[in-house]
Amino acid sequence: MRLDKFITSDGRMSRREAAGIIRRGLVTVNGETVRQADFRVDPEADAVAADGRRILWRRNTYIMLNKPAGFVSSTEKGKTVMTLLGDEEGRPGLFPCGRLDADTEGLLLITDDGALGHLLLSPRRHVEKEYFFECDPPLTAEGFDILRSGPDLGDFTARPARTESIDGGAAGRIAVTEGKYHQIKRMVHAAGSEVTYLKRTKFGPLELDPALGPGEWRYLTEGEVKALRDAAGVTDETDRTGEKK
Ligand code: URA
Repeated sequence: MRLDKFITSDGRMSRREAAGIIRRGLVTVNGETVRQADFRVDPEADAVAADGRRILWRRNTYIMLNKPAGFVSSTEKGKTVMTLLGDEEGRPGLFPCGRLDADTEGLLLITDDGALGHLLLSPRRHVEKEYFFECDPPLTAEGFDILRSGPDLGDFTARPARTESIDGGAAGRIAVTEGKYHQIKRMVHAAGSEVTYLKRTKFGPLELDPALGPGEWRYLTEGEVKALRDAAGVTDETDRTGEKK
């Protein structure tokens, strides 16, 4: 793996910052200063330090993507969210944790941590997802009451949602703890309107980073991964290298 990529994998630095500290001679591999960003390191065997701080190899990868419209949340061939990941696209085991419709934008977690992903998506965990939506016609106060009470969608009854009306009901925020197919669009339909724009702004404890433009992504910080693990109720305390603490 390239040295600059290894350094950014713990989520503390951008690729550009990594290139900068490598150029300035602040990075060592097994105690030797290395100034080439494309120097190959073995993540399992080499000791890499930046400015004297040892960088621990991150066994799993956790990515926050600001999904643009027009991309499918899948690992299949075609115009998928995976094609937005640049060098990470081919990393074995990476998958989008949950699905956003092709025309939905916003926060998508992509990881190769299957166990955590599975827990976060489990209906039993009630992990909250928050969305911003625009709709036409504007939702009435009664419409918001329907969203809040949890409408019957035919094949299931949605759990009560948290909502906020924006612009007189022409837009709103809604937070749900389920992730059924087209759930928000169907709930808004049941409340008397149609979604014209949908963006996920939160996934459990994660908030969409406002610095990420559509199609941009970054690694999660250690704190964000810990918060996700807490939200998923992970009790097996293992550190980022996979070692028991
Ligand atoms: N609800 C929807 O209707 N679509 C999404 O993409 C996500 C939630």
